[in-house]
Amino acid sequence: MLVRPAKCLRGEVSLPGDKSISHRAAIMAALANGETRIENFATSADCASTLKCLQDLGVDIRCEGNTVWICGVGKSGFRKPSGDLDCGNSGTTMRLMSGVLAGQKFDSVLIGDESLSRRPMKRVIEPLTEMGAAIESVEGHAPLTIHGRHPLQAISYELPIASAQIKSCVLLAGLNADGETSVIESVPTRDHTERMLRWLGVEVVEADEYRHKRRISVNGNAEMTAGDLLIPADISAATFFMVAATCLYQSNVRMPNVGINPTRSAVIDVLKQKLGASVSIGEQREENNEPTGNISVRGRLKTQRSNEIRGKVVANLIDELPALAVLGTQLEFGLEVRDAGELRVKESDRIAAVVENLRRVGADVEEFKDGFHVSKSNLKGAKVDSFGDHRIAMAFAIAGLLAVEGETEIIGAECVDVSFPGFFETLQNVVVYE
Ligand code: S3P
Repeated sequence: MLVRPAKCLRGEVSLPGDKSISHRAAIMAALANGETRIENFATSADCASTLKCLQDLGVDIRCEGNTVWICGVGKSGFRKPSGDLDCGNSGTTMRLMSGVLAGQKFDSVLIGDESLSRRPMKRVIEPLTEMGAAIESVEGHAPLTIHGRHPLQAISYELPIASAQIKSCVLLAGLNADGETSVIESVPTRDHTERMLRWLGVEVVEADEYRHKRRISVNGNAEMTAGDLLIPADISAATFFMVAATCLYQSNVRMPNVGINPTRSAVIDVLKQKLGASVSIGEQREENNEPTGNISVRGRLKTQRSNEIRGKVVANLIDELPALAVLGTQLEFGLEVRDAGELRVKESDRIAAVVENLRRVGADVEEFKDGFHVSKSNLKGAKVDSFGDHRIAMAFAIAGLLAVEGETEIIGAECVDVSFPGFFETLQNVVVYE
């Protein structure tokens, strides 16, 4: 894919449904009693992997455009799959489905592509083993063979890593456990699972613990009742457009009905409060317990000091960091990101990928174990690599727009389909060159 320098972005951007919420909607609708209609379901390849796994477990699913109908089978109505369950590139599918499958009365095998097979799964194997499931892996990596047990043993589990996927895995397993299962988190992570469980009628109890920690609990006797869902547009997908529009001064873009859940919207706070960007949110409402709003962005950046992103906020904008790294090249005092070691175990090693590609497009960047420092730089078109990672491909498409000269060639750009099929067409629709 070739991208050339742009003047600005103008118009309305049509974004896919939120990937994180779509995974949860599909999984919980399958576990519910009754039929659920999900509108604006994510078009991403990742969410298609979740639907396929559920179909292979005997769930009846029908899709028409972005609308999906799921006939819930209840918490223990899955059928033993006849083959392996393929999670493709999707870590969320593998980690959340592990939690669901651990409490079933049959064995199942979860597999993934090369990238997913390199990602750490010990983080879900440990709590699920504590709950009584037996899980075989290849030294903590997929394929995972899950010997389910029903009921599981309820546990209280303190998250060793700030991860919504681990939290969700344990809470979903808790729905098939013999009592109250709790997860304790010291850093708040995205809470889509808790919100969706409540929407479907499950009581989720939250309580403060010592040292600002939160305990989140579900009971194994909870049942879910089907309820129609509308998925908001994906704020992580919106970020690429927010960054491009912020940096290209004559821009003016609107993005309707975007999810602005506070555990996901830290990117907006950083853009507005730290970087002086012009981002406004209108018509705020709620769709099935998820806050949404229309986002408008005009070109503007105003920073007076060096900027750092570190500490607890990192968990709430972890997927937005590749795009923010590109934005860092446009900041007077640059941008430093720390405490983001988790980036190394995403779809690619995102610290290495960002640093390598930024250098190729002429940016001055320093790599740390847990982050990077980007200095203000004039970008020039160059050949960059997606490293098979959708967010790296999209971040460097934005770098290509911001370049002062030359075309940027993105190798392996087709991986954008993992979260945003049609990304380049959508971008093309709002880019102004002259
Ligand atoms: C996700 C949680 C995050 C995020 C991922 C989606 C989710 O991962 O990076 O893209 O849907 O729960 P971790 O739980 O590993 O932090």
